[in-house]
Amino acid sequence: MPSISNLALAGLLAAGQGVSASLIGAIQLEKFIKQETPIALQGILDNIGPNGVKVPGAGRGLVIASPSKENPDYFFTWTRDAALTFRTLIDDFLFGNKALEPLINDYIYGQARLQTVSNPSGTFLPNGAGLGEPKYMADGSRYNGNWGRPQRDGPPLRAISLIQYSNYLVSKGQTVRVRDEIWPIIANDLAYVGQYWNSTGFDLWEEVNGASFFTTQAQYRSLVEGGTLAKTLGLPCTACSEAPQVLCFLQSYWNGKFMTANFIQGSHNRGGVDANTVLGALVAFDPSAPCDSPSLQPCHPRMLANFKNFVDTFRDPALYPINKGTPKNKGIALGRYPEDTYFNGNPWYLITLGSAEYLYAAIASWEKSNSLTITPTSLPFFKDLYPLARTGTFGKLHPAYHIIKSLVKTYADSFVAVSQKYTPPNGMLAEQFLKTAPYSPISAANLTWSFASFIGMNHRRQGHLPTSWVPKDISLPTTCVGSSVKGTYAPATQAGAPNVTIPCISNVLFQLNASTYYGENLYVVGNSPTLGNWDLDTAYPLMSSKYTAERPLWYATIPLEMEEGVTTLRYKYARQQDCGQDWIVEEEERVLEVPACVKDGSEEVLAERDEAFEGPGGSSGGC
Ligand code: NOJ
Ligand code: NOJ
Repeated sequence: MPSISNLALAGLLAAGQGVSASLIGAIQLEKFIKQETPIALQGILDNIGPNGVKVPGAGRGLVIASPSKENPDYFFTWTRDAALTFRTLIDDFLFGNKALEPLINDYIYGQARLQTVSNPSGTFLPNGAGLGEPKYMADGSRYNGNWGRPQRDGPPLRAISLIQYSNYLVSKGQTVRVRDEIWPIIANDLAYVGQYWNSTGFDLWEEVNGASFFTTQAQYRSLVEGGTLAKTLGLPCTACSEAPQVLCFLQSYWNGKFMTANFIQGSHNRGGVDANTVLGALVAFDPSAPCDSPSLQPCHPRMLANFKNFVDTFRDPALYPINKGTPKNKGIALGRYPEDTYFNGNPWYLITLGSAEYLYAAIASWEKSNSLTITPTSLPFFKDLYPLARTGTFGKLHPAYHIIKSLVKTYADSFVAVSQKYTPPNGMLAEQFLKTAPYSPISAANLTWSFASFIGMNHRRQGHLPTSWVPKDISLPTTCVGSSVKGTYAPATQAGAPNVTIPCISNVLFQLNASTYYGENLYVVGNSPTLGNWDLDTAYPLMSSKYTAERPLWYATIPLEMEEGVTTLRYKYARQQDCGQDWIVEEEERVLEVPACVKDGSEEVLAERDEAFEGPGGSSGGC
């Protein structure tokens, strides 16, 4: 219910013309932001273990993506979501919310432990491969289901968040604690970045394999900041020498019109327009970096052109009916990429809010540098908001500076207003909202990342700025080289990681003929921790990427780790259907004498199996 005084105010304002209508909108927006801020913060806290009220069973410091356990099941902890959430929480702490510090310490503890967990992306020791795992069970144990893995943005994002807090501790004289406790976690992640940045991996949406703008931008920042922190601590960072090459590669996403979001391996239907490029710039934001910095800040002319191209794509009412008839100078609902089919492809809160944050960040950069430059590349972006815009550099004394700044601020606010419009009265933010009437929330409810994006947006809107990280003497190599530095990895025991050692592993190639319908999956389960110790929930997934009608092949090279003293593997193949039917597990145990294991991280296959599924086929439930 609007209060009487507000009604009166609205009436007074409505007596005027269009200006007052927008004034009413502005007042409503301020009210919304004020109301939503504590809701969003609580929404985040409710999803973090061990005390988050919506996520019983979650491990200490582990961020659960959403309490939703079905359609979709997001009751897991993703390294990306967790790192981005803590980036915002650490910001909130630095901007004055001191109560968050114990939680930040829980995060450090949780991540130190997660780093050591063996998983289907690999083991932690000796080569760090396991750090590329996208998600873990809510209690921090490995997740064995089929997934787009590895994802290489997790380690750099985590490093960035931990560095942010470490820099604060250093400024408070707690250098020793940073060196002994937090740096070892960061060092593992940086080693991973230095070793694998030039290897393919899945994008942040977990769907395409290749290289991704978002990932590259996070990788670059982590190596630069990591190098600076290492110097402060008097420690080496071998991986950090890769930074110039990562920066060189980052430039290659520009296609003359926009940032191609991904270089994709294999066939695909993507045109390259993707929110990944907007979110990447939020991670890389440094208000003191010049707008033409190759670190590709939100205010970079190419990034502004890219922003316009991204937003305009979603103005098409055939794609997003929700945006029909919105003029070019007003914000709209935004989704991941135009070809998206996940839940039928809808707008996401975190992308709509992220786009507002993007514009506030650009404004902050102009404010810091006391000027705004319009180039031929960025001119169309500005013209949408200010048709009289022309190229040139406009200092703070120039009227154009103020006009444009205020138009961009209004434009940014209009994206927040779109989120406001589709936020339910209780303030809960799901992952998506429908692109068609009734425009209601859909997919995972109470998405942690959605809440975090609201808080992050508001930090920038309030003028709370992150610390600077882009080096003053940044320069691009003359030629780009895809290189790699072999990393060394060690458990961060001071922070709480178990003292794991290099596991002894026998790589065995399992090949299985099994005809399946689309939606079925096959697993191996058996008497090894790698095969879930007979627990179907943690059985090892086979892959179907070579499956054909002639050869219905399911396969995986599995790095088998056996229990001390056990050399005979007993195992079965198991069929998992897609509608929650019972598993179909083979009756007879199969047996394999496991070849002597090795500890050198070698990928050599020591034994092969070529078998056929024994048992009935599945029957689609058609759910
Ligand atoms: C789950 C992923 O999290 C989501 O990003 C993806 O779109 C769907 N799987 C479909 O692949
Ligand atoms: C699907 C998104 O595509 C992915 O980026 C995210 O990590 C997971 N959902 C969990 O929120």
